[in-house]
Amino acid sequence: MPTVGQPIPHDSGKGHVTGEALYIDDLTPIADELFVEFVGSPVACGEIESVDVSQAKKLPGVVGVYTHRDVLGHNLFGPVICDERFLAEDRVEYVGQPVVVVAGETREAARAGRAAVKIRVTPDQPVLDIDTAIKRQQFLGPERRIERGDFDPAWQAAEHRIEGTFQSNGQEQFYLESQAAIAYPGEQGQLVVESSTQNPTESQAVLAEVLGLGMHEVVVRCKRMGGAFGGKETQGAIPALMAALVTQKTNRPARVVYTKDDDMKVTGKRHPYKTWYKAGFDSDGRLNAVKLDYYSDGGAAADLSTGIMERTLLHADNAYYLPNVRIKGRICKTNIPPNTAFRGFGGPQAIAVIENIIQEVAAKLGKDAYEIRRINCYGQAPRNTTPYGQEVKNNLLPEIFDRLAESSDYKKRLAEAEAFNSQSPTHLRGIAMTAVKFGISFTTRFLNQGNALVGVYTDGSVQVSTGATEMGQGVNTKIRQIVADEFGVGIERVLMMTTSTEKNINTSPTAASAGTDLNGAAAANACAAIKQRMAKFAADLFTDTNKDLAPSPNEIHFEDGHVFDRRDPDNRIEFGKFANLARMARIDLGARGFYATPGIDFDRETGRGNPFFYYTTGAAVAEITIDRFTGDLRVVGVDMLMDIGRMINPGIDHGQVIGGFVQGMGWCTTEQLVYNDAGELLSYSPTTYKIPNITDVPERFNFAFMDNGENARNIRSSKAVGEPPLMLGISAWAAAKHALGCVAGKEPVPLKLPATNEEVLMCLAGIEHKRRETEKPRSASR
Ligand code: MTE
Ligand code: HPA
Ligand code: MOS
Repeated sequence: MPTVGQPIPHDSGKGHVTGEALYIDDLTPIADELFVEFVGSPVACGEIESVDVSQAKKLPGVVGVYTHRDVLGHNLFGPVICDERFLAEDRVEYVGQPVVVVAGETREAARAGRAAVKIRVTPDQPVLDIDTAIKRQQFLGPERRIERGDFDPAWQAAEHRIEGTFQSNGQEQFYLESQAAIAYPGEQGQLVVESSTQNPTESQAVLAEVLGLGMHEVVVRCKRMGGAFGGKETQGAIPALMAALVTQKTNRPARVVYTKDDDMKVTGKRHPYKTWYKAGFDSDGRLNAVKLDYYSDGGAAADLSTGIMERTLLHADNAYYLPNVRIKGRICKTNIPPNTAFRGFGGPQAIAVIENIIQEVAAKLGKDAYEIRRINCYGQAPRNTTPYGQEVKNNLLPEIFDRLAESSDYKKRLAEAEAFNSQSPTHLRGIAMTAVKFGISFTTRFLNQGNALVGVYTDGSVQVSTGATEMGQGVNTKIRQIVADEFGVGIERVLMMTTSTEKNINTSPTAASAGTDLNGAAAANACAAIKQRMAKFAADLFTDTNKDLAPSPNEIHFEDGHVFDRRDPDNRIEFGKFANLARMARIDLGARGFYATPGIDFDRETGRGNPFFYYTTGAAVAEITIDRFTGDLRVVGVDMLMDIGRMINPGIDHGQVIGGFVQGMGWCTTEQLVYNDAGELLSYSPTTYKIPNITDVPERFNFAFMDNGENARNIRSSKAVGEPPLMLGISAWAAAKHALGCVAGKEPVPLKLPATNEEVLMCLAGIEHKRRETEKPRSASR
C-alpha cells in the first residue's frame, strides 16, 4: 500500500509528547562541558567607551571571557550583505547586541560572570521607527521597484480614488525551543556543532569564516528544532558562534541556550511595515491604478531584509489582477535587533495592504467587500498575469472564492451581522473573506536546490539524510513516505537521519515552504538511481530463473516489500533478501540525489520574470465579535478552502493549515511588540506578549481542500503548505475592519494591524467622536 496520501503520524509525534524527542538542551552533557552566556549592549546605540571584563574573569567557575579581539577569523557576516558583527567592536546598534561571551563551569558561574562584565557606552539618539529613519534617510540596501502599465494616467482617469497609509507591526516567532547550540572539539581545531538551525550549511560557512577555519573543518548537525518559523534561518548561527568560539579557545565542549527573555529581546522578528498607497477604481470596484510604497523596519543590520522586501513586492497583488501598478520598496535601518524571516517572509505585510485597500474600496462604494474581491480576482487571459509578468497557471482562485462563499453561507451571515450591528448597543459583528496566492520557490534563484543521501541495507531497511531540517512541520515524515513508496516497502523500514553538513553538502535553508519540494524530490532522485541499478540486476536474476520471461529492467516492480517482474508477480523476492543478493553481486545500494527547480528566472533589475515554480492558493472567511465597551475582539468562526495539490500527508497538512492560520490570526489581533523610548523591548515574555492559546481558537473552524492533481510538475503533485495559511489569518483583521465600518459608514476606519483590543477600542472611539462632530447641528456647534 502506498503511504503517500495517507495521514501517517508525524515521525516524532510520540516523542514530542513523551519527551523522548531530544532538543539541544536535552543532550546529556559530556565531561568538561562549559556553559556559555553573552553580555549584550545596555543601550540602543552609541560608541563603546570601555568593556571591563576584569571582575568577571576573577569569579570562581568563570573559565573564559571573550570579546571581538578574540575572534581569529573575520568578525563580520551576513547572509546577503556582510554588515553584521558577531561581537560588537567600536559601536553598538541595538539593545542586547552581543558584546562579550562568557564561559563558565556551570550555568550559574557563567551567569555570575555575565553580571560582572561592565560595558560603558556613550549613547546616541536611537532611531526606533520607520518615520524617523525615512526622515534621516537611513536605509539598508537599494530601493526596489516592480511596475506594470502606466499608473499616473490610470490614476488621473479613475472614477474613484482612495489613498492612505497602512501600518503592520512586527511579530515574535515564539518557537518553544530557544536559540541553542553545543560545540564539540575535534582533532586539530576541527569542530562539530549541534545546532537548532534551519540552515546548517550557512551556519557552517559563518562558523568557518568567523573562527578562521575551512568549511571542511566544521560539521553542523541538526536533529530537530522545537519550532523555528523563520527565526532560525540565519539567526541560529549566532549562538552557534558563541559556543564554537568557546570551544575553539578552551578545547572543551560548550553549550549555549538562550533564556526565553534573552531570545525575545535580542533576536530578530517579523518586519514592521508602513505603506503609502493609492488606488483608483471604477464604480464596480475594479482596481485599475494602484501605487504602493512599502517601507520595512529592517533593524540594525540587513540580515534577510532584502529578500523579504523582494517577496513583499512580489505579493503586492495577492490574488488580484492589477493592470496599472507601481510598486516600490525600501528597508529602513533602525536601532532594534536585525529583523529576519518569519513565516510568509514579507508576503503577509504585502497581502494585508491590498486586502485593506479592498475593504476601503468596498466601504467607499457602499458594496460588499467579497464582491470587490471576486471582481478583481485573477481569471482568464489577459487577467492572469502578475505585475512581474508571470502567468498564473492552473488557477483555481475564482472557484475557491465561489465555493467558499457558498459553503460558509457568507451572504446570509453578512446580512445577519449588519442587521445585528444596526441595533446592538453593546456588540459589533464583522465578517470578511480574504485570499492568498503565495509564490513557491526561493526568490533567490540559486537556493532552489536540494540534495539527499539514500542507503539501502542488506536487510532491506533504508536510511535517508537530506538537507531538510525538521522544525515540527513534518518534512521528515513526508520524505520518509516518498522513499518508502519508491522502494515499495513499509514506512517502518525507512528512517530519517539527523541532518548534517557531513552528509548533505551545500544545502539551502529549510524555508520558503519548499523543504519537501526540494529535498523530497532529491530523495526520490536518489531512490531512482538505486532502483535503476537494482532493476538491471533483478532483470538478470529473473532471466536466470525464467529464461522465457527474460524481463527488461523496465518490467521490474518494487511493491509490498518485494521485487518482481510485473508479468510474473508470483515469482517475487523479498526486498531485504534481494538487497543482500545485490550486495553479493557488488551492486551499489546507495546514492546521492540532487534536484534543482526547473524553469525559474527573475530579473531583479527589470522586476520581470518567473520567480515562482507555482502558486499555493486559498481563501478564508472569518467572523469576529467586538465588545463595544472594552474593544474585546473574538474570532468566532473560520471557514477555509485551499488548493494545496495532492497532499503527501493530509494529517500533517491539516496541522500546518490550522497552525498557520492561528499564527496569522495572532499577528493580526493580539501580538503587540512594545518598545520604550530607549529601544528596550517591554513585551519580552508570554505575560506581556499575547500569542493565541487554545481558547482563542474559534469554535467554528471548518477547513476543506480542493482536489487538485494538476500540479504534476512538483513532487507527487503536491503543493507547499507551510507558510500560505498564515496569510489567511488576515481575514480576522478584515472582519474587524468590516465591523467597525458598520459604525463608520463611508468614513474611513484607520485600523492598524494588529487589531488588539486597545487598538479596536481607540479606533472605535475615534469613529464615534468623528460621527458626533459631523452629526452635531451647525447651530449647536457655534
Ligand atoms: N511548522 C512548525 N510546526 N514549526 C515551524 O517552525 N515553520 C514554518 C512552516 N511550518 C514551522 C512550521 C515556516 S516559516 C516554513 S518556511 C516551513 O514550515 C518550512 O518547512 P517546509 O518547507 O518543510 O514546509
Ligand atoms: N523565502 C524564505 N527564505 C528565503 C527566501 C524566500 O523567498 N529567500 C531567501 N531566503
Ligand atoms: Mo520560512 S519564513 O521561509 O523559514
